[in-house]
Amino acid sequence: MRQSRGTAAGRGLAHLMADFDHRLPPTPRPPARRADRDPFGSTVGRHGRAGTAAGWAAVPAPLAVYRMTTEQVGGVWPFIAGNGLSSSGALLGIDYLSGGAFAADPIGWTLDGVAGVTNPNMIFFGAPGRGKSGTVKMFALRQMAYGYRTLVLGDVKDEYAPLCGALGVEPHAVGHGLPARINPLDFGPLGNDWTSLSRAEAQRRAAMVFARWLLLVKGLVGSQSVSFGPTAETAVGQVLRDVTGYSDGADRLREVTIPQLWHALREPGDMLVDACRYADRQHFLDDTRAVRDALGALVTGHLAGLFDAPTTVQVDWRAPIQSLSLSRLEPLGDQAVGVALTCLNSWGRAMTQLAEPGDLRIVIRDECWKQMRLGTDAVKSLDADLRLSRNDGCIQVVVAHKPSDMLTVGDADSQAVAIARDLLHLCATKVLLGQDEQIGDELSGLLGLSPMAERIVTDWAAAGRGRALWMVGSHVAKVQTVRTSVDLALTDTNDAITHQADRP
Ligand SMILES: Nc1ncnc2c1ncn2[C@@H]1O[C@H](COP(=O)(O)OP(=O)(O)O)[C@@H](O)[C@H]1O
Ligand SMILES: [Mg+2]
Repeated sequence: MRQSRGTAAGRGLAHLMADFDHRLPPTPRPPARRADRDPFGSTVGRHGRAGTAAGWAAVPAPLAVYRMTTEQVGGVWPFIAGNGLSSSGALLGIDYLSGGAFAADPIGWTLDGVAGVTNPNMIFFGAPGRGKSGTVKMFALRQMAYGYRTLVLGDVKDEYAPLCGALGVEPHAVGHGLPARINPLDFGPLGNDWTSLSRAEAQRRAAMVFARWLLLVKGLVGSQSVSFGPTAETAVGQVLRDVTGYSDGADRLREVTIPQLWHALREPGDMLVDACRYADRQHFLDDTRAVRDALGALVTGHLAGLFDAPTTVQVDWRAPIQSLSLSRLEPLGDQAVGVALTCLNSWGRAMTQLAEPGDLRIVIRDECWKQMRLGTDAVKSLDADLRLSRNDGCIQVVVAHKPSDMLTVGDADSQAVAIARDLLHLCATKVLLGQDEQIGDELSGLLGLSPMAERIVTDWAAAGRGRALWMVGSHVAKVQTVRTSVDLALTDTNDAITHQADRP
């Protein structure tokens, strides 16, 4: 038997058990009671830290480290969005979703393959006075630093004149009593060096020119609510080929004007009647009367003397901006402005058709709805331009009030409405400035906006000028465009009202 080690207080249970070779497990020690630890242990004294540029902080910031996959991050911090766009291009303002700067570079986005950006076109929607034109001007101005040149195709309210003035360029004004003439049936650069072209190239260019002209004549005739069927198309096509000398295999095509086309349709020769397979001259005249009358409006009507003579405007492609002002036509009504825009459109296309690679341009169509209202063919013409932009390095900028402007061109299910809907998809970048609730619903329906995006448009963007929801492909940004002191004078279109208000 073991000698027990007694104590004054007697033997404990563990000792007694040990006598029988049992080992009791050791009694766990009660955890030492920790004083409630101060999470900010080393506080800084009342006088802060000493040292150069040490500043003063009551506590050192506790740094917490978490590890997770990027997929989980979205769940843990749902309110932070990354800025997925590169920072190249025109620096426009602040993106309130990411907190970072927002820069617009539609061609860069297209080339980088930003999700959903398949073309560099942009469409701006917004209620009047929300800052659409201002944003477009700042975009164009800031892109100039990257070598972009701007063409304003139809400045209806002379809004771009201050910008042109600041860049030392005089806008070309079109209107009665002014020397500027624009021939919508201009060859543009396509007519250059015709004699030295190979036969195949000459034919390719001729096809482009005739196709553009037919589209234009269709648009002009359609704007008078006259239908332009295949028979009329054959007749106009034949006349254009005859008058230019293409039918005779001329080396150099002659320039045509609308009055020449009109005269040729009024006095058809036997060859023409035959070529169009009419029974006789009268049959030809009866069949093309509506087309002649519609064209006659441009020759003898209220637009006479504007688009019916060879072009006198010299577009200087080296200049940073060129603008065609239509403000003098405003008193003639929306339709006159619309017809003028259609002519300018066709002419602008001729001018941009043979762009050199790397020649970067921005083509601005402000107040575009005036043209869209003219009918299906006007819509088709815009559609054709937007489709081309990927090939010719142009950023086409379309400015409108609301999507239904584009949809008023025909009955709800008509072809025009279908094309107008497509137009929205031909502009990969959509910039939605402030709108009323009602139009917000319309936008959501057409563009598939999420409820949050719709609220940005109807609440946040409507609360300040220059605010917009930018939909760049599938990327969304909530941008406040920031005006610098340089931009203030260039974007202020409220001059007329403020000056009125200043009067005693
Ligand atoms: N980014 C902006 N920030 C603040 N004000 C702006 C901004 N853009 C335009 N504005 C002001 O809003 C007014 C209307 O702008 P404007 O571009 O003509 O609108 P819209 O083309 O939509 O009718 C201008 O007078 C201008 O001073
Ligand atoms: Mg405007």
